[in-house]
Amino acid sequence: MIKSLRAARTLSGVVNLPGDKSISHRYAMLAAISEGTSVFSGFASSRDCHSTLDCLRALGVEVSVSGDTVAIQGRGLSGLKKSRQVLDAGNSGTTIRLLSGILAGHPFETAITGDSSLSGRPMGRIIRPLQQMGAVVESRDGGLPPLKIRGGQLKSVRYTLPVASAQVKSCVLLAGLYADATTAVEETIPTRSHTEIALREFGATVRISGNWIEVDPNPHLRGQTLRVPGDLSGAAFFLAGAALVPGSELLLPGVGLNPSRRTLLDYLVRSGLDLKVLNEREDAGEPRGDLRVRYSPDLLQSRMPPIQGNDTASMIDEIPVLAVLGAHTAGLEISDAGELRVKESDRISAIAANLRAMGAEVSEKPDGLTIQGGQTLQSADIVTRNDHRIGMAFAVAALAAKGETRIIDAECADVSFPGFWETLAGVAR
Ligand code: S3P
Repeated sequence: MIKSLRAARTLSGVVNLPGDKSISHRYAMLAAISEGTSVFSGFASSRDCHSTLDCLRALGVEVSVSGDTVAIQGRGLSGLKKSRQVLDAGNSGTTIRLLSGILAGHPFETAITGDSSLSGRPMGRIIRPLQQMGAVVESRDGGLPPLKIRGGQLKSVRYTLPVASAQVKSCVLLAGLYADATTAVEETIPTRSHTEIALREFGATVRISGNWIEVDPNPHLRGQTLRVPGDLSGAAFFLAGAALVPGSELLLPGVGLNPSRRTLLDYLVRSGLDLKVLNEREDAGEPRGDLRVRYSPDLLQSRMPPIQGNDTASMIDEIPVLAVLGAHTAGLEISDAGELRVKESDRISAIAANLRAMGAEVSEKPDGLTIQGGQTLQSADIVTRNDHRIGMAFAVAALAAKGETRIIDAECADVSFPGFWETLAGVAR
């Protein structure tokens, strides 16, 4: 599908976001290994989270979906059944990496694969700790999917993450549920903390001390009834859109504001965005609130603060749209973002190529981008590389560009934000 977009006169109205993708994956997996029924409202409609649900079904879990409500009959900690088919994680790194941690605790062999993008993404980062814990894991070409995992009783580890990755941290913590003693993971750069929070909600014992996160084995996990907050990473496209388009004002209700993710909001406010958090509350350990954003001419005049260090890790999924914002403003320097090269596409290269196609001056670094800014962007054909965040980020670029921009393979947005194009059309005038 090709989506054609022109500059918007203004953006106004209410944006209803899909449920948070990261939280939905975790709730579904923990529900599957709990006892009793779990019911989740606001569950992510994203294609990625449905990949997780399909994998769980293949492992013998009863899952029913009605609108954005998902009910899961738990099978207990070690109750998954051997799948008769190869599991398909689709485009989803979170599905393959987190589920591998759980499969490593089950005494049968499972094969798990994904689409062509996922099949090129590094799995050595989870294979190494799982092997240290005693699981047998085979992969293609020394670390690519498909993976074959034969699990069982695991040995506990104290593991220092070699990359800032919530997926790797979560994989080891989930495998730790099946270990012979307490498992500990050290992260020197903080990443999203949804697994730690969700494990506690379902009844596991998790202790955090400094950089170390510990999980006790063999917990009695119980099914939960929970509401998933709106996806802050999905909100980012609309926050950026409102920042760019004159006269805009948007309200985004019920957005997840986990401290490990809300760096984005602080960063945007520091950049000059008129953004307010209203009605802040907490539910199931996950803060949430309503966001009100208004067009911010000041932001457009100045260079955006550099994105580097721990901030890069906390905003890793928002960098494509922040880069677009940087090109429309007076420029932006992005560093310490080497991980972007192994996302759904090489996002550093995809951002640079598409910004250049729109007339921006951009140079690629191994771990980031230098974006000059200060030019009016021109329409172009955007090559999304089937990467949802590239497609949506450049939809935002088009809202303030000259002429008609065409987003190629625009259906990729469904991976995290089904209904994105309709939601955008609903607020753009
Ligand atoms: C995610 C972690 C991040 C992020 C991804 C979702 C998660 O990946 O980019 O979209 O849900 O744990 P990494 O762990 O590879 O950094």
